[in-house]
Amino acid sequence: MDASGDRVFIFDTTLRDGEQSPGASMNLDEKLRLARQLEKMGVDIIEAGFPVASEGDFQAVRQIAREIKVAQVAALARANLADIDRAWEAIAEAAHPRIHTFISSSDIHLKYQLNKTRAQVLKEARAAVKHAAACTPQVEFSPMDATRSDRDYLCEMVEAVIAEGARTVNIPDTVGYATPEEFGRLIAYLFQKVRNIGQAVISVHCHNDLGLAVANSLAAIKNGARQVECTVNGIGERAGNAAMEEVVMALATRKDVFHCYTGINTEQIYNSSKLLTKITGIQVQPNKAIVGANAFAHESGIHQDGLIKEKTTYEIMTPQSVGISGTHLVLGKHSGRHAIVERLKKLGYVLSKEEVARVFVRFKELADVKKEIFDEDLEAIISEEIFRIEDKYKLVSLTVVSGNVVIPTATMQMEIDMEIIHDAGFGIGPVDATFAAIRKITKTNNFLQQYVVNAITGGSDAQGEVAVHLRYGDHTVVGRGAHPDILVASAKAYINALNRLERLKTEVRKVKFE
Ligand code: KIV
Ligand code: ZN
Repeated sequence: MDASGDRVFIFDTTLRDGEQSPGASMNLDEKLRLARQLEKMGVDIIEAGFPVASEGDFQAVRQIAREIKVAQVAALARANLADIDRAWEAIAEAAHPRIHTFISSSDIHLKYQLNKTRAQVLKEARAAVKHAAACTPQVEFSPMDATRSDRDYLCEMVEAVIAEGARTVNIPDTVGYATPEEFGRLIAYLFQKVRNIGQAVISVHCHNDLGLAVANSLAAIKNGARQVECTVNGIGERAGNAAMEEVVMALATRKDVFHCYTGINTEQIYNSSKLLTKITGIQVQPNKAIVGANAFAHESGIHQDGLIKEKTTYEIMTPQSVGISGTHLVLGKHSGRHAIVERLKKLGYVLSKEEVARVFVRFKELADVKKEIFDEDLEAIISEEIFRIEDKYKLVSLTVVSGNVVIPTATMQMEIDMEIIHDAGFGIGPVDATFAAIRKITKTNNFLQQYVVNAITGGSDAQGEVAVHLRYGDHTVVGRGAHPDILVASAKAYINALNRLERLKTEVRKVKFE
Protein backbone atom coordinates (compact mmCIF):
# COMPACT_ATOMS: atom_id res chain seq x y z
CA MET A 1 0.00 0.00 0.00
CA ASP A 2 1.30 3.45 -0.89
CA ALA A 3 0.53 5.47 2.24
CA SER A 4 1.37 8.88 0.88
CA GLY A 5 -1.24 11.62 0.72
CA ASP A 6 -4.30 11.76 2.95
CA ARG A 7 -5.96 8.79 4.59
CA VAL A 8 -9.58 8.14 3.59
CA PHE A 9 -11.49 6.09 6.14
CA ILE A 10 -13.65 3.29 4.84
CA PHE A 11 -16.93 2.96 6.71
CA ASP A 12 -18.57 -0.25 5.58
CA THR A 13 -22.34 -0.40 5.89
CA THR A 14 -22.92 -3.74 4.14
CA LEU A 15 -24.38 -5.14 7.36
CA ARG A 16 -26.76 -2.22 7.84
CA ASP A 17 -27.69 -0.32 4.66
CA GLY A 18 -26.58 -3.32 2.57
CA GLU A 19 -28.88 -5.57 4.52
CA GLN A 20 -31.76 -3.27 3.55
CA SER A 21 -31.44 -4.55 -0.05
CA PRO A 22 -34.42 -6.65 -1.03
CA GLY A 23 -33.55 -10.26 -0.21
CA ALA A 24 -30.25 -9.49 1.51
CA SER A 25 -31.24 -10.29 5.07
CA MET A 26 -28.57 -12.26 6.90
CA ASN A 27 -28.72 -14.31 10.06
CA LEU A 28 -26.46 -13.84 13.05
CA ASP A 29 -23.87 -16.37 11.94
CA GLU A 30 -23.67 -14.88 8.47
CA LYS A 31 -23.31 -11.36 9.82
CA LEU A 32 -20.47 -12.46 12.07
CA ARG A 33 -18.70 -14.20 9.23
CA LEU A 34 -18.95 -11.15 7.04
CA ALA A 35 -17.83 -8.83 9.86
CA ARG A 36 -14.68 -10.97 10.34
CA GLN A 37 -13.94 -10.76 6.64
CA LEU A 38 -14.46 -6.98 6.62
CA GLU A 39 -12.03 -6.65 9.49
CA LYS A 40 -9.53 -8.87 7.69
CA MET A 41 -9.87 -6.65 4.62
CA GLY A 42 -8.99 -3.63 6.77
CA VAL A 43 -12.17 -1.55 6.83
CA ASP A 44 -11.92 1.18 9.46
CA ILE A 45 -15.51 1.13 10.65
CA ILE A 46 -18.08 -1.65 10.41
CA GLU A 47 -21.68 -0.46 10.73
CA ALA A 48 -23.08 -3.60 12.27
CA GLY A 49 -26.79 -2.76 12.30
CA PHE A 50 -29.67 -0.76 13.72
CA PRO A 51 -30.15 -2.24 17.22
CA VAL A 52 -33.54 -0.74 17.96
CA ALA A 53 -34.99 -2.24 14.78
CA SER A 54 -35.43 -5.72 16.20
CA GLU A 55 -34.13 -8.13 18.79
CA GLY A 56 -32.27 -9.96 16.00
CA ASP A 57 -30.48 -6.76 14.94
CA PHE A 58 -29.60 -5.97 18.53
CA GLN A 59 -28.10 -9.42 19.15
CA ALA A 60 -26.12 -9.33 15.91
CA VAL A 61 -24.65 -5.91 16.66
CA ARG A 62 -23.77 -7.01 20.18
CA GLN A 63 -22.02 -10.17 19.00
CA ILE A 64 -20.07 -8.30 16.35
CA ALA A 65 -19.10 -5.64 18.90
CA ARG A 66 -17.78 -8.34 21.22
CA GLU A 67 -15.73 -10.07 18.54
CA ILE A 68 -14.24 -7.34 16.40
CA LYS A 69 -11.10 -5.93 17.93
CA VAL A 70 -9.37 -3.73 15.38
CA ALA A 71 -12.12 -1.98 13.42
CA GLN A 72 -14.56 0.40 15.05
CA VAL A 73 -18.06 -1.06 15.37
CA ALA A 74 -20.85 1.41 14.69
CA ALA A 75 -24.51 1.09 15.65
CA LEU A 76 -27.18 3.19 13.99
CA ALA A 77 -29.75 5.14 16.01
CA ARG A 78 -32.39 7.72 15.17
CA ALA A 79 -31.89 11.01 16.94
CA ASN A 80 -33.79 10.14 20.09
CA LEU A 81 -32.61 9.05 23.49
CA ALA A 82 -34.22 5.60 23.48
CA ASP A 83 -32.64 4.63 20.15
CA ILE A 84 -29.25 5.90 21.29
CA ASP A 85 -29.46 4.03 24.60
CA ARG A 86 -30.32 0.82 22.77
CA ALA A 87 -27.45 1.36 20.28
CA TRP A 88 -25.04 1.96 23.13
CA GLU A 89 -26.25 -1.11 24.98
CA ALA A 90 -25.39 -3.15 21.87
CA ILE A 91 -21.87 -1.80 21.35
CA ALA A 92 -20.71 -0.86 24.84
CA GLU A 93 -18.42 -3.91 24.98
CA ALA A 94 -16.73 -3.14 21.66
CA ALA A 95 -13.01 -2.38 21.65
CA HIS A 96 -13.79 0.72 19.56
CA PRO A 97 -17.50 1.61 19.67
CA ARG A 98 -19.15 4.30 17.55
CA ILE A 99 -22.70 5.64 17.74
CA HIS A 100 -24.13 6.83 14.44
CA THR A 101 -27.21 8.96 14.92
CA PHE A 102 -29.28 10.62 12.22
CA ILE A 103 -32.25 12.87 11.55
CA SER A 104 -33.55 14.36 8.32
CA SER A 105 -32.57 17.88 7.34
CA SER A 106 -34.50 18.46 4.11
CA ASP A 107 -37.74 20.45 4.11
CA ILE A 108 -39.42 17.64 2.18
CA HIS A 109 -38.70 15.17 4.98
CA LEU A 110 -39.43 17.68 7.75
CA LYS A 111 -42.81 18.54 6.29
CA TYR A 112 -44.07 15.18 5.05
CA GLN A 113 -42.30 12.64 7.20
CA LEU A 114 -41.42 14.21 10.52
CA ASN A 115 -44.00 16.99 10.62
CA LYS A 116 -41.53 19.15 12.56
CA THR A 117 -40.03 22.60 12.15
CA ARG A 118 -36.39 23.25 11.34
CA ALA A 119 -35.85 24.62 14.85
CA GLN A 120 -37.34 21.49 16.45
CA VAL A 121 -35.19 19.16 14.34
CA LEU A 122 -32.06 21.16 15.06
CA LYS A 123 -32.78 20.92 18.75
CA GLU A 124 -33.29 17.15 18.54
CA ALA A 125 -30.08 16.70 16.55
CA ARG A 126 -28.10 18.61 19.19
CA ALA A 127 -29.67 16.70 22.06
CA ALA A 128 -29.04 13.36 20.37
CA VAL A 129 -25.38 14.06 19.74
CA LYS A 130 -24.92 15.38 23.26
CA HIS A 131 -26.50 12.23 24.68
CA ALA A 132 -24.40 9.96 22.46
CA ALA A 133 -21.20 11.83 23.32
CA ALA A 134 -21.83 11.09 26.97
CA CYS A 135 -21.56 7.37 26.09
CA THR A 136 -18.54 7.44 23.76
CA PRO A 137 -16.35 10.07 22.13
CA GLN A 138 -16.81 8.36 18.76
CA VAL A 139 -20.08 9.93 17.65
CA GLU A 140 -21.16 10.27 14.06
CA PHE A 141 -24.09 12.36 12.92
CA SER A 142 -25.94 12.23 9.59
CA PRO A 143 -28.38 14.88 8.36
CA MET A 144 -30.53 12.58 6.24
CA ASP A 145 -31.42 13.77 2.71
CA ALA A 146 -28.63 16.34 3.03
CA THR A 147 -28.37 16.86 -0.72
CA ARG A 148 -31.98 18.12 -0.95
CA SER A 149 -31.67 20.30 2.14
CA ASP A 150 -31.36 24.05 2.34
CA ARG A 151 -27.59 24.60 2.31
CA ASP A 152 -27.47 27.17 5.05
CA TYR A 153 -29.71 25.15 7.32
CA LEU A 154 -27.46 22.17 6.64
CA CYS A 155 -24.39 24.22 7.59
CA GLU A 156 -26.10 25.37 10.77
CA MET A 157 -26.92 21.78 11.70
CA VAL A 158 -23.41 20.52 10.94
CA GLU A 159 -21.85 23.27 13.03
CA ALA A 160 -24.26 22.63 15.90
CA VAL A 161 -23.62 18.88 16.08
CA ILE A 162 -19.86 19.34 15.92
CA ALA A 163 -20.18 21.77 18.82
CA GLU A 164 -22.07 19.05 20.75
CA GLY A 165 -19.28 16.51 20.16
CA ALA A 166 -19.82 14.80 16.79
CA ARG A 167 -16.41 13.68 15.58
CA THR A 168 -17.67 12.60 12.19
CA VAL A 169 -20.38 14.31 10.18
CA ASN A 170 -21.73 12.24 7.35
CA ILE A 171 -23.42 13.91 4.37
CA PRO A 172 -25.88 11.44 2.85
CA ASP A 173 -27.24 11.61 -0.65
CA THR A 174 -30.12 9.54 0.64
CA VAL A 175 -32.13 9.38 -2.56
CA GLY A 176 -29.20 9.30 -4.99
CA TYR A 177 -30.17 12.68 -6.45
CA ALA A 178 -26.86 14.54 -6.56
CA THR A 179 -24.49 14.85 -9.50
CA PRO A 180 -20.72 14.71 -8.96
CA GLU A 181 -19.97 18.37 -9.62
CA GLU A 182 -22.86 19.57 -7.49
CA PHE A 183 -22.02 17.18 -4.65
CA GLY A 184 -18.37 18.24 -4.72
CA ARG A 185 -19.50 21.86 -4.49
CA LEU A 186 -21.73 21.06 -1.52
CA ILE A 187 -18.80 19.53 0.37
CA ALA A 188 -16.61 22.52 -0.53
CA TYR A 189 -19.37 24.86 0.70
CA LEU A 190 -19.48 23.10 4.06
CA PHE A 191 -15.71 23.49 4.39
CA GLN A 192 -16.08 27.22 3.67
CA LYS A 193 -19.04 27.97 5.90
CA VAL A 194 -18.93 25.68 8.93
CA ARG A 195 -16.59 27.37 11.37
CA ASN A 196 -15.67 24.34 13.48
CA ILE A 197 -15.45 21.88 10.57
CA GLY A 198 -11.79 21.19 11.35
CA GLN A 199 -12.90 19.36 14.50
CA ALA A 200 -14.68 16.60 12.59
CA VAL A 201 -14.08 14.18 9.77
CA ILE A 202 -16.46 14.85 6.88
CA SER A 203 -17.95 11.67 5.53
CA VAL A 204 -20.23 10.90 2.59
CA HIS A 205 -22.90 8.26 2.05
CA CYS A 206 -24.11 8.11 -1.55
CA HIS A 207 -26.95 6.08 -2.98
CA ASN A 208 -26.86 4.85 -6.53
CA ASP A 209 -30.28 5.70 -7.95
CA LEU A 210 -28.73 7.50 -10.92
CA GLY A 211 -25.68 5.25 -11.03
CA LEU A 212 -23.55 8.08 -9.60
CA ALA A 213 -22.78 6.87 -6.07
CA VAL A 214 -19.10 6.15 -6.66
CA ALA A 215 -18.57 9.26 -8.80
CA ASN A 216 -20.25 11.39 -6.13
CA SER A 217 -18.14 9.85 -3.36
CA LEU A 218 -14.96 10.55 -5.31
CA ALA A 219 -16.05 14.13 -6.04
CA ALA A 220 -16.54 14.59 -2.30
CA ILE A 221 -13.05 13.27 -1.59
CA LYS A 222 -11.67 15.75 -4.10
CA ASN A 223 -13.33 18.45 -2.02
CA GLY A 224 -12.14 17.39 1.39
CA ALA A 225 -14.29 14.45 2.56
CA ARG A 226 -12.13 11.88 4.33
CA GLN A 227 -14.58 9.09 5.09
CA VAL A 228 -16.65 7.16 2.56
CA GLU A 229 -19.62 5.03 3.52
CA CYS A 230 -19.95 2.14 1.13
CA THR A 231 -20.91 -1.50 0.78
CA VAL A 232 -19.37 -4.62 -0.70
CA ASN A 233 -20.68 -5.12 -4.26
CA GLY A 234 -22.58 -1.84 -3.84
CA ILE A 235 -25.62 -3.52 -2.27
CA GLY A 236 -28.05 -1.39 -0.28
CA GLU A 237 -31.44 0.25 -0.17
CA ARG A 238 -33.03 0.43 -3.69
CA ALA A 239 -30.23 0.79 -6.29
CA GLY A 240 -27.67 0.38 -3.53
CA ASN A 241 -24.78 2.35 -2.08
CA ALA A 242 -21.35 3.30 -3.40
CA ALA A 243 -19.45 0.08 -4.09
CA MET A 244 -16.53 -0.25 -1.67
CA GLU A 245 -14.32 -2.04 -4.18
CA GLU A 246 -14.82 0.69 -6.79
CA VAL A 247 -14.07 3.56 -4.43
CA VAL A 248 -11.00 1.83 -3.01
CA MET A 249 -9.57 0.81 -6.37
CA ALA A 250 -10.25 4.22 -7.90
CA LEU A 251 -8.26 5.82 -5.08
CA ALA A 252 -5.47 3.26 -5.42
CA THR A 253 -5.29 3.33 -9.22
CA ARG A 254 -5.69 7.10 -9.65
CA LYS A 255 -3.48 8.29 -6.84
CA ASP A 256 -2.22 10.92 -9.24
CA VAL A 257 -5.71 12.46 -9.19
CA PHE A 258 -6.88 11.91 -5.61
CA HIS A 259 -3.63 11.90 -3.60
CA CYS A 260 -5.30 9.71 -0.99
CA TYR A 261 -4.99 6.17 0.32
CA THR A 262 -7.11 3.77 2.37
CA GLY A 263 -6.23 1.06 4.89
CA ILE A 264 -7.84 -1.64 2.73
CA ASN A 265 -5.87 -4.76 1.89
CA THR A 266 -7.10 -4.81 -1.69
CA GLU A 267 -6.16 -8.45 -2.12
CA GLN A 268 -9.10 -9.31 0.15
CA ILE A 269 -11.63 -7.54 -2.07
CA TYR A 270 -12.54 -10.51 -4.22
CA ASN A 271 -12.94 -12.85 -1.24
CA SER A 272 -15.22 -10.32 0.46
CA SER A 273 -17.33 -9.96 -2.65
CA LYS A 274 -17.66 -13.71 -3.07
CA LEU A 275 -18.50 -14.24 0.58
CA LEU A 276 -21.32 -11.71 0.38
CA THR A 277 -22.66 -13.32 -2.78
CA LYS A 278 -22.60 -16.71 -1.10
CA ILE A 279 -24.42 -15.42 1.95
CA THR A 280 -27.11 -13.38 0.24
CA GLY A 281 -27.47 -15.25 -3.04
CA ILE A 282 -27.34 -11.91 -4.84
CA GLN A 283 -25.01 -12.34 -7.81
CA VAL A 284 -22.97 -9.46 -9.17
CA GLN A 285 -23.52 -8.65 -12.82
CA PRO A 286 -20.73 -10.11 -15.03
CA ASN A 287 -19.61 -6.67 -16.23
CA LYS A 288 -19.50 -5.19 -12.72
CA ALA A 289 -16.29 -3.20 -12.20
CA ILE A 290 -13.54 -4.88 -10.12
CA VAL A 291 -15.42 -8.03 -9.01
CA GLY A 292 -17.59 -9.02 -11.98
CA ALA A 293 -16.73 -12.23 -13.84
CA ASN A 294 -15.67 -10.22 -16.89
CA ALA A 295 -13.85 -7.43 -15.08
CA PHE A 296 -10.47 -8.79 -16.16
CA ALA A 297 -11.55 -10.88 -19.17
CA HIS A 298 -10.19 -9.62 -22.47
CA GLU A 299 -12.20 -10.91 -25.39
CA SER A 300 -11.08 -8.90 -28.38
CA GLY A 301 -8.14 -10.19 -30.39
CA ILE A 302 -6.49 -6.77 -30.49
CA HIS A 303 -6.66 -6.48 -26.71
CA GLN A 304 -5.33 -10.01 -26.20
CA ASP A 305 -2.48 -9.31 -28.56
CA GLY A 306 -1.61 -6.11 -26.68
CA LEU A 307 -1.76 -7.88 -23.32
CA ILE A 308 0.62 -10.61 -24.45
CA LYS A 309 3.10 -7.97 -25.56
CA GLU A 310 2.76 -5.78 -22.48
CA LYS A 311 0.15 -6.04 -19.71
CA THR A 312 -0.27 -2.29 -19.23
CA THR A 313 -1.57 -1.88 -22.80
CA TYR A 314 -5.07 -2.83 -21.67
CA GLU A 315 -4.84 -3.49 -17.93
CA ILE A 316 -4.98 -0.55 -15.48
CA MET A 317 -4.79 -2.81 -12.42
CA THR A 318 -3.97 -6.48 -12.05
CA PRO A 319 -6.53 -9.12 -11.05
CA GLN A 320 -4.03 -10.21 -8.37
CA SER A 321 -4.25 -6.76 -6.76
CA VAL A 322 -7.91 -7.42 -5.89
CA GLY A 323 -7.29 -11.02 -4.93
CA ILE A 324 -8.19 -12.86 -8.12
CA SER A 325 -5.48 -15.47 -8.35
CA GLY A 326 -5.86 -16.51 -11.97
CA THR A 327 -4.53 -19.96 -11.16
CA HIS A 328 -7.19 -22.62 -10.85
CA LEU A 329 -5.74 -25.53 -8.98
CA VAL A 330 -7.86 -28.56 -9.74
CA LEU A 331 -8.50 -31.27 -7.19
CA GLY A 332 -9.84 -34.73 -7.95
CA LYS A 333 -10.73 -38.15 -6.62
CA HIS A 334 -7.15 -38.87 -5.56
CA SER A 335 -6.55 -35.61 -3.71
CA GLY A 336 -5.92 -36.16 -0.05
CA ARG A 337 -7.22 -34.35 3.01
CA HIS A 338 -4.01 -32.35 3.28
CA ALA A 339 -4.34 -30.92 -0.24
CA ILE A 340 -7.91 -29.89 0.52
CA VAL A 341 -7.00 -28.23 3.82
CA GLU A 342 -4.22 -26.28 2.06
CA ARG A 343 -6.57 -25.23 -0.74
CA LEU A 344 -9.22 -24.12 1.76
CA LYS A 345 -6.63 -22.08 3.64
CA LYS A 346 -5.66 -20.32 0.40
CA LEU A 347 -9.32 -19.50 -0.14
CA GLY A 348 -9.46 -18.00 3.33
CA TYR A 349 -11.24 -20.79 5.24
CA VAL A 350 -9.65 -22.08 8.41
CA LEU A 351 -11.75 -24.99 9.65
CA SER A 352 -11.72 -27.18 12.74
CA LYS A 353 -10.77 -30.88 12.41
CA GLU A 354 -14.39 -31.90 12.66
CA GLU A 355 -15.42 -29.40 9.94
CA VAL A 356 -12.62 -30.60 7.66
CA ALA A 357 -13.87 -34.17 8.13
CA ARG A 358 -17.38 -33.14 7.04
CA VAL A 359 -16.10 -31.23 4.04
CA PHE A 360 -13.90 -34.17 3.08
CA VAL A 361 -16.85 -36.58 3.04
CA ARG A 362 -18.78 -34.25 0.73
CA PHE A 363 -15.68 -33.72 -1.40
CA LYS A 364 -15.26 -37.47 -1.91
CA GLU A 365 -18.95 -37.85 -2.80
CA LEU A 366 -18.63 -35.12 -5.39
CA ALA A 367 -15.32 -36.42 -6.75
CA ASP A 368 -17.00 -39.76 -7.40
CA VAL A 369 -19.31 -38.14 -9.92
CA LYS A 370 -17.26 -35.16 -11.09
CA LYS A 371 -13.72 -35.51 -12.40
CA GLU A 372 -12.33 -32.10 -11.58
CA ILE A 373 -13.17 -30.20 -8.43
CA PHE A 374 -12.60 -26.45 -8.67
CA ASP A 375 -12.39 -23.77 -5.98
CA GLU A 376 -16.02 -22.87 -6.69
CA ASP A 377 -17.07 -26.47 -5.99
CA LEU A 378 -15.21 -26.45 -2.68
CA GLU A 379 -16.83 -23.17 -1.73
CA ALA A 380 -20.27 -24.56 -2.55
CA ILE A 381 -19.55 -27.47 -0.21
CA ILE A 382 -18.42 -25.06 2.52
CA SER A 383 -21.60 -23.02 2.13
CA GLU A 384 -23.80 -26.05 2.50
CA GLU A 385 -21.85 -28.05 5.02
CA ILE A 386 -20.30 -25.49 7.35
CA PHE A 387 -22.19 -22.24 7.07
CA ARG A 388 -25.68 -23.60 7.61
CA ILE A 389 -27.23 -23.49 11.02
CA GLU A 390 -29.70 -26.02 12.39
CA ASP A 391 -32.55 -26.39 9.91
CA LYS A 392 -36.22 -27.19 10.47
CA TYR A 393 -36.68 -28.75 7.02
CA LYS A 394 -34.29 -31.27 5.46
CA LEU A 395 -34.29 -33.08 2.14
CA VAL A 396 -34.04 -36.86 2.49
CA SER A 397 -34.72 -38.15 -1.03
CA LEU A 398 -36.07 -36.99 -4.36
CA THR A 399 -37.12 -38.92 -7.46
CA VAL A 400 -38.42 -37.05 -10.47
CA VAL A 401 -40.05 -38.49 -13.55
CA SER A 402 -40.14 -36.14 -16.48
CA GLY A 403 -40.05 -36.01 -20.28
CA ASN A 404 -42.32 -35.21 -23.20
CA VAL A 405 -44.80 -38.06 -22.69
CA VAL A 406 -45.46 -38.00 -18.93
CA ILE A 407 -46.86 -35.55 -16.44
CA PRO A 408 -43.74 -34.46 -14.54
CA THR A 409 -43.96 -35.98 -11.08
CA ALA A 410 -41.70 -35.54 -8.07
CA THR A 411 -41.75 -38.02 -5.18
CA MET A 412 -40.02 -36.71 -2.14
CA GLN A 413 -39.10 -37.52 1.45
CA MET A 414 -38.33 -34.74 3.88
CA GLU A 415 -37.41 -34.59 7.55
CA ILE A 416 -39.36 -31.97 9.45
CA ASP A 417 -38.55 -31.53 13.11
CA MET A 418 -37.12 -35.10 13.20
CA GLU A 419 -40.15 -36.67 11.52
CA ILE A 420 -39.95 -38.21 8.04
CA ILE A 421 -42.78 -37.18 5.72
CA HIS A 422 -43.26 -38.15 2.09
CA ASP A 423 -45.55 -37.06 -0.69
CA ALA A 424 -45.62 -36.38 -4.42
CA GLY A 425 -46.20 -33.30 -6.55
CA PHE A 426 -47.09 -32.71 -10.21
CA GLY A 427 -46.14 -29.76 -12.34
CA ILE A 428 -45.72 -28.45 -15.83
CA GLY A 429 -42.02 -29.34 -15.64
CA PRO A 430 -39.71 -31.22 -13.27
CA VAL A 431 -38.79 -28.13 -11.22
CA ASP A 432 -42.43 -27.14 -10.85
CA ALA A 433 -43.26 -30.70 -9.75
CA THR A 434 -40.38 -30.68 -7.22
CA PHE A 435 -41.53 -27.40 -5.72
CA ALA A 436 -45.12 -28.63 -5.63
CA ALA A 437 -43.98 -31.66 -3.59
CA ILE A 438 -42.10 -29.42 -1.15
CA ARG A 439 -45.12 -27.13 -0.75
CA LYS A 440 -47.36 -30.11 -0.01
CA ILE A 441 -45.01 -31.68 2.51
CA THR A 442 -44.24 -28.43 4.33
CA LYS A 443 -47.80 -27.07 4.01
CA THR A 444 -46.39 -23.76 2.80
CA ASN A 445 -47.33 -21.64 -0.18
CA ASN A 446 -44.98 -18.71 -0.59
CA PHE A 447 -44.84 -16.73 -3.78
CA LEU A 448 -41.84 -17.82 -5.85
CA GLN A 449 -40.38 -14.51 -6.94
CA GLN A 450 -37.30 -15.69 -8.77
CA TYR A 451 -35.57 -18.93 -9.69
CA VAL A 452 -32.00 -18.79 -11.01
CA VAL A 453 -29.80 -21.70 -12.13
CA ASN A 454 -26.08 -21.28 -12.75
CA ALA A 455 -23.37 -23.75 -13.62
CA ILE A 456 -20.72 -23.25 -10.91
CA THR A 457 -17.89 -24.06 -13.33
CA GLY A 458 -17.58 -24.92 -17.01
CA GLY A 459 -18.21 -28.39 -18.46
CA SER A 460 -21.35 -30.47 -18.71
CA ASP A 461 -20.46 -32.21 -15.43
CA ALA A 462 -20.53 -28.86 -13.59
CA GLN A 463 -22.53 -28.58 -10.40
CA GLY A 464 -25.72 -26.64 -10.75
CA GLU A 465 -26.12 -23.78 -8.30
CA VAL A 466 -29.66 -22.64 -7.73
CA ALA A 467 -31.03 -19.55 -6.01
CA VAL A 468 -34.69 -19.47 -5.02
CA HIS A 469 -36.26 -16.16 -3.95
CA LEU A 470 -39.43 -16.59 -1.86
CA ARG A 471 -41.74 -13.82 -0.74
CA TYR A 472 -42.96 -13.49 2.84
CA GLY A 473 -45.07 -10.35 3.43
CA ASP A 474 -42.78 -7.43 2.63
CA HIS A 475 -39.67 -9.60 2.76
CA THR A 476 -37.82 -11.75 0.31
CA VAL A 477 -35.65 -14.66 1.39
CA VAL A 478 -33.05 -16.23 -0.84
CA GLY A 479 -32.22 -19.91 -0.56
CA ARG A 480 -29.30 -21.58 -2.27
CA GLY A 481 -28.40 -25.13 -3.15
CA ALA A 482 -25.69 -26.81 -5.20
CA HIS A 483 -25.56 -30.33 -6.63
CA PRO A 484 -24.52 -32.03 -9.87
CA ASP A 485 -28.23 -32.80 -10.39
CA ILE A 486 -30.03 -29.48 -10.89
CA LEU A 487 -33.33 -30.85 -9.57
CA VAL A 488 -31.66 -31.82 -6.29
CA ALA A 489 -29.95 -28.40 -6.27
CA SER A 490 -33.37 -26.78 -6.86
CA ALA A 491 -34.98 -28.75 -4.03
CA LYS A 492 -32.13 -27.86 -1.69
CA ALA A 493 -32.39 -24.18 -2.61
CA TYR A 494 -36.17 -24.10 -2.04
CA ILE A 495 -35.79 -25.88 1.30
CA ASN A 496 -32.97 -23.54 2.29
CA ALA A 497 -35.24 -20.57 1.52
CA LEU A 498 -37.97 -22.08 3.73
CA ASN A 499 -35.46 -22.53 6.57
CA ARG A 500 -34.32 -18.94 6.23
CA LEU A 501 -37.92 -17.86 6.27
CA GLU A 502 -38.51 -19.71 9.52
CA ARG A 503 -35.64 -17.76 11.08
CA LEU A 504 -36.84 -14.49 9.62
CA LYS A 505 -40.30 -14.95 11.14
CA THR A 506 -38.74 -14.68 14.58
CA GLU A 507 -36.73 -11.62 13.62
CA VAL A 508 -39.08 -9.47 11.55
CA ARG A 509 -38.14 -5.84 11.93
CA LYS A 510 -40.28 -3.86 14.29
CA VAL A 511 -39.05 -0.41 13.34
CA LYS A 512 -38.74 1.26 9.99
CA PHE A 513 -36.97 4.52 9.13
CA GLU A 514 -39.48 7.09 10.33
O1 KIV B 1 -29.21 6.93 3.17
C1 KIV B 1 -29.18 7.46 4.30
O2 KIV B 1 -29.44 8.65 4.47
C2 KIV B 1 -28.84 6.61 5.43
C3 KIV B 1 -28.57 7.31 6.72
C4 KIV B 1 -29.11 6.55 7.87
C5 KIV B 1 -27.12 7.61 6.84
O3 KIV B 1 -28.68 5.43 5.28
ZN1 ZN C 1 -28.36 4.93 3.12
